Amino acid sequence: MFSEQLISKLKKAESIAVFTGAGISAESGVPTFRGENGLWKKFRPEELANFDAFMRNPDLVWEWYRYRKKIIADIKPNPGHYALAEMENYHKNFAIITQNVDNLHRRAGSKTVYELHGNIERNYCIDCRKNFPNEKILLSDKVPHCICGGLVRPDVVWFGEMLPEDQWNAGEAAAERAEVFFAVGTSAVVYPAASLPQIAKRAGAYVVEVNIERTELSYDADEVLIGKSGEILPKLLDTCYKK
Ligand code: OAD
Repeated sequence: MFSEQLISKLKKAESIAVFTGAGISAESGVPTFRGENGLWKKFRPEELANFDAFMRNPDLVWEWYRYRKKIIADIKPNPGHYALAEMENYHKNFAIITQNVDNLHRRAGSKTVYELHGNIERNYCIDCRKNFPNEKILLSDKVPHCICGGLVRPDVVWFGEMLPEDQWNAGEAAAERAEVFFAVGTSAVVYPAASLPQIAKRAGAYVVEVNIERTELSYDADEVLIGKSGEILPKLLDTCYKK
């Protein structure tokens, strides 16, 4: 299943970067955005993941985020997340660059995680920027307000917003440094995040895609592994690291 080239590169590599998307959390029960049962098939991103829409209708946006927060509070990382957390121990530099907001990489034990689209378990006041506790949001059905009176929003990146600069810079540097770059469970269509595989490839990385189906990225990847990340990544750990 894995090429000799990949196995030998992984045995020697000092720097690995892993770019993840909603697909890695699918086996934990987090819905993906695109594809057959994708969230964006049923819901309109421009009404739910957009600052103007939030200001127009905070009740609706909060209903949607509370629904997603509750899913995420109840689920667990899957074998794909755990395999990545273990791989981190074998390399000098190992970074996960995720588009996911579900916090599952950290919950699985990964230490170096760059969150390009924020974290759904964090919230902040749009006026004073103070953090607002997640537990309070899960316990009430009301739109949350800060003690300063400001409206509280989830700490996630919405369409039209900039990515957090420090996370992007660190993720880009990890992609440029990587000898092997994995893209796992992402349709790789949302930019600028989706440019990371090209950045890594231009800088000389061996690019490996893990997905249940081929994507736009497959044409540029050096190796495409078709299957569930919760099955492929533990196999990779057994084959390339433990033998
Ligand atoms: P998508 O929903 O666009 O893509 C999920 C990818 O995961 C697809 O290519 C699936 O084929 C693949 N997939 C599904 N199950 C899998 C499994 N078990 N193992 C491996 N692959 C699997 O999700 P993202 O690429 O993460 O942005 O979407 C990118 C961004 O679009 C999100 O971060 C979000 C969304 O709008 C914001 O909210 C800013």
